Amino acid sequence: MAIQKVGVVGCGLMGSGIAQVCAASGFATVVREVSGELLDKGLKSIDKNLNRLAEKGAITEAAKGEIRGRLKGTTVIEDLKNCDVIIEAIIEQLPAKRELFGALDAICPPTTIFASNTSSLTITEIATATKRPQRFVGLHFFNPVPVMKLVEVVRTIATDPAVYEEMLAFGAKLGKTPVRAHDGTGFIVNRLLVPYLLDAIRALEEGVGSIEDIDNSMKLGCGHPMGPLTLLDFVGLDTTYYISQIMFEEFKERRFAAPPLLKRMVLAGWNGRKAGRGFYDYADPQKPKAMKF
Ligand code: CAA
Repeated sequence: MAIQKVGVVGCGLMGSGIAQVCAASGFATVVREVSGELLDKGLKSIDKNLNRLAEKGAITEAAKGEIRGRLKGTTVIEDLKNCDVIIEAIIEQLPAKRELFGALDAICPPTTIFASNTSSLTITEIATATKRPQRFVGLHFFNPVPVMKLVEVVRTIATDPAVYEEMLAFGAKLGKTPVRAHDGTGFIVNRLLVPYLLDAIRALEEGVGSIEDIDNSMKLGCGHPMGPLTLLDFVGLDTTYYISQIMFEEFKERRFAAPPLLKRMVLAGWNGRKAGRGFYDYADPQKPKAMKF
C-alpha cells in the first residue's frame, strides 16, 4: 500500500512537530485537535518553525507554501477517516488513547494503519481497543521532532510483519532513522535514558556535585548537547515522573524509582522549562539560573 495521506491526532508539542515533518516530507497531512483554540496554537507553532527555516534559507518561500498547503487542521475526527496512517500524539493516559483508537477503528477502513507516539504505555494495551491489532505499531518521536533524527518503530506480538516493514520505510521517508524496538516498557531510549536522568537527580540529592557541575560534566565530558538536569527541565519533570512510575510498576527495579526530590518538585509544580522553574529558573529564558535547594 502506498502511503499518501497521514492523520495526526493531537497538535501539542509532539503532534505539531509530527504533523510538520509529515507535511514537509510530501504527505497530505490532517491534524486534529479537540478545540479550535488548541488547534490554532499548534498550527501557529508550525508556522513559526517554517518561517524560521525560510528565514535562514533552509527552505524556500515556495517550499514553505507547499508544506503549509499539504497541512490541514481540523477539530472533527471524521476528517481522518480516509488517512492511510494515523499517528496519535494526545495526552499520555491509557483510557484516553483507548477511547480515541476505538472511535478511529469505527470510522476508518480496515487498511488504515494506526500508530501511537506513546513514550511509556504498552502498545499492546492500546492496540486491543481496536479490531486491528495486526495493523498497530508504536512510532515514538523525540522532542524537538523536526530536529531529532530518531524514530523508534515498535512492534507488538500481534503486529503483522509486512505492516511493520512498511512503518520502518515510512519512518525513513519522514527523514528519520528508524530503529526496531519491541513493545517493552520504555522501548530502547527511555529504557536507557530514564535511569540516567533519575541517577542525575540522585547524584544531586547525595551532594556529588552542584546542578551546574553535574550538567557540565555530561556536556563537556561526554559530548551530550544538554546536561541531564537541563534535559529534565526540557522534557518536563512531571512527564519524567509519570514515565518513571510506569517503568517502576513494570520492572520493580530501583533504577526506575523516582527520587524523593523529583516527587517534591512535581508536587510543587516546578515542572521545568514550561513551568518557568525546575532545576533552573527561567525568568530570563536566555540565561537560566540554577536553583538553590
Ligand atoms: N523546533 C524546531 N527546530 C528547533 C527547535 C524546535 N523546538 N529547537 C531548536 N531547533 C533548531 C534550531 O533552529 C537550530 O537549527 P539550525 O542549526 O539549523 O540553526 C538547531 O535546532 C539547534 O538549536 P539551537 O542552536 O537553538 O540550540 P542547541 O544547539 O542547543 O540545540 C537542541 C537545541 C536540538 C534541543 C539540543 O540541545 C538537543 O539536541 N538537546 C537534547 C534533546 C533531547 O535529548 N531530546 C530528546 C528528549 S527525550 C524525548 O523526547 C522522548 C521521551 O519519551 C521523553
